[in-house]
Formats: sequence, C-alpha cells, structure tokens
Amino acid sequence: MHEDVERILLTAQELDTKVSEMAARISTDYQGKEILLITLLKGGVMFAVDLMRKLTVPVEIDFMDVSSYGADAKTSGVVRIEKDLDSPIAGKHVLLVEDIVDSGLTLKYVSTLLRDRNPASLRICTILNKPMRRKTQIDADYIGFDIPDEFVVGYGLDYAQKHRNLPYVGVLKREIYAQGK
Ligand code: IMP
Ligand code: MG
Repeated sequence: MHEDVERILLTAQELDTKVSEMAARISTDYQGKEILLITLLKGGVMFAVDLMRKLTVPVEIDFMDVSSYGADAKTSGVVRIEKDLDSPIAGKHVLLVEDIVDSGLTLKYVSTLLRDRNPASLRICTILNKPMRRKTQIDADYIGFDIPDEFVVGYGLDYAQKHRNLPYVGVLKREIYAQGK
C-alpha cells in the first residue's frame, strides 16, 4: 500500500468485478444501439477504458475536460470547459462516464450542456458515488459503489495530480491534504 494512503476502500479485484457487472448491464440495456462514451479528463479515463473493453455493443469514445477543483481538496463550485468534444453528439446515444459524483456540480453542468446538443439519449455512469456530499439534484443511471465522505485516490482519482495510477481506491491520509503537500 502507498505511504500516503490510510486504508484501501476498494481492491483492484473488487473494482474489476464491478466494472464487469456494469458493462454487462449496459450492454444489455443498449442492445442494437451504438454508444458514444464521453469521459471527463482525467479522472474518468481509467474506468472508461476498462468499461469500454468489456462492452459488447459498438462504442465510440470522446473526451471533455472540465475543471471544478484546484490543487486543493475542496470544491470551488466553479466548472469551466478546458477542452470540448471533437465531434457533434446530435442523434447519438451518449453515455457520460465519470470517476466520482461528489457535490454533483460538475455532472449537473456537463449533462445540461450535453443535453442542449440534442443527443438521442443521455445517461450517466460513475464508478464511485458520494451521496452525502450532494449539493444539487443529480442521479446517475449506473453507479459502481456508494462510498463514505472521505477523500479518496487511485483508479484515476488524484490528489494534486498524484496517485491516479494506484490500481485500488484508497483513503488519502488526512495529514497529506492538511499540509497541502
Ligand atoms: P463534483 O462536481 O463535486 O461532483 O466533483 C467531481 C470531481 O471532483 C470528480 O470528477 C473528481 O475529479 C473530483 N473529486 C471529488 N471527490 C474526490 C475524491 O474523493 N478524490 C479525488 N477527486 C475527487
Ligand atoms: Mg474528475
């Protein structure tokens, strides 16, 4: 276990099993359709590619980058587009893939913006969900795990751009973000 991590919340094995279950459900739900998987950089990438590999329906992928967090662990509530999608989404079945829904502000903003571009459908898929932290009404259609209100890293999630590569999801030691290290 990494020295900045207090404890492991979800093992690589648990994540893999869950991603397989989610992919099976999504493949059934989208039978006969093509999915445009849209992922938010950078945190969603690891989950998105794992999920994509396990989908049995045709799938395209595109990326969008928005920022709601600075280098510190608290939300600023400000969401800004850093990079937009490469292609239009009108008439496509969009599956928005996220690493975590926390306050929900990011997803609220992005899903409203995408809906305005007239996709055939829009659903939300997240591997992690922190229901206790919600500041706005937003429900994901596919949720991997509900987790407690703790700052986690790994499986794409970072603290100050570090720890995205950890294969598990772990709780970050409080002293790390208290020091702003
Ligand atoms: P929201 O707008 O508050 O829902 O924030 C969503 C984004 O905040 C996620 O995509 C993450 O990048 C980041 N985030 C929220 N909680 C955590 C956490 O516990 N660890 C790392 N990043 C987090
Ligand atoms: Mg993110």
